[in-house]
Amino acid sequence: MNVKNMPIGFFDSGVGGLSVLREAIKLLPNEDFIYFGDSKNAPYGTKSVDEVRELSFKASELLLKYSVKAIVVACNTATSAAIENLRNTYKNMPIIGIEPALKPAVELKREGKIVIMATPMTLSEKKFYNLMERYKENADIVPLPCPGLVEYIEKGIVKGREVNEFLKEKFLPLKNENVSSVVLGCTHYPFIKEELANVLGDKVAIIDGSKGTAAQLKRQLLNRDIINDKKEKGKITILNSLESNEIIEVSKKLLQL
Ligand code: DGL
Repeated sequence: MNVKNMPIGFFDSGVGGLSVLREAIKLLPNEDFIYFGDSKNAPYGTKSVDEVRELSFKASELLLKYSVKAIVVACNTATSAAIENLRNTYKNMPIIGIEPALKPAVELKREGKIVIMATPMTLSEKKFYNLMERYKENADIVPLPCPGLVEYIEKGIVKGREVNEFLKEKFLPLKNENVSSVVLGCTHYPFIKEELANVLGDKVAIIDGSKGTAAQLKRQLLNRDIINDKKEKGKITILNSLESNEIIEVSKKLLQL
């Protein structure tokens, strides 16, 4: 089979990576996509690095059975735990990861604190430490671990009282601080953006890295000359380790299919 016609694989601990897939579909409408959400094992963010690495390999192996030409690790947590190991193992294909979009937040050059919302693992791993090191001279960065938030989104609850109260409580310690922007360092969080904006007000910029990751995917496909050049719209397949209709319905709703 011509590599150009092969699908692109995505995986995440659950439905979060659909926020990245959504952007990839806009940029690459003629590609076929296979999305695997590992909701049975979600959340990843409170597991051990070894566990997440093992689950990341399982997810990648599953995608490879569908002959994918590239893998997008649409999960900040899995990226920090496993991206290097995955790249060393699957040397012949692009493996694209995601990390908190700190750079665009710093480039806004706004006065005040930059809050990074992410899972406990993302914020405690070396990758994030290196990212902080790169920018800490020019920015006042506050990591904000949000264990418990992913669980709402996995249930398809993206707005309303529960999410609002969770977010209010999270930001309570920062209520007297000048927060200029908030980086969504977990791919689940773009789905609660509306409720977050209700809590933060309209002066705080909310930044998510999914567009950047989709652009990076496109660049890699172009560099290798493996963009699908068919004219018709691509096919999107959603798989989930829970194997229930309910989670597929939640996924489709989030993706707005
Ligand atoms: N969506 C994930 C991320 O980007 C992980 C959430 C989780 O399973 O804890 O970090």
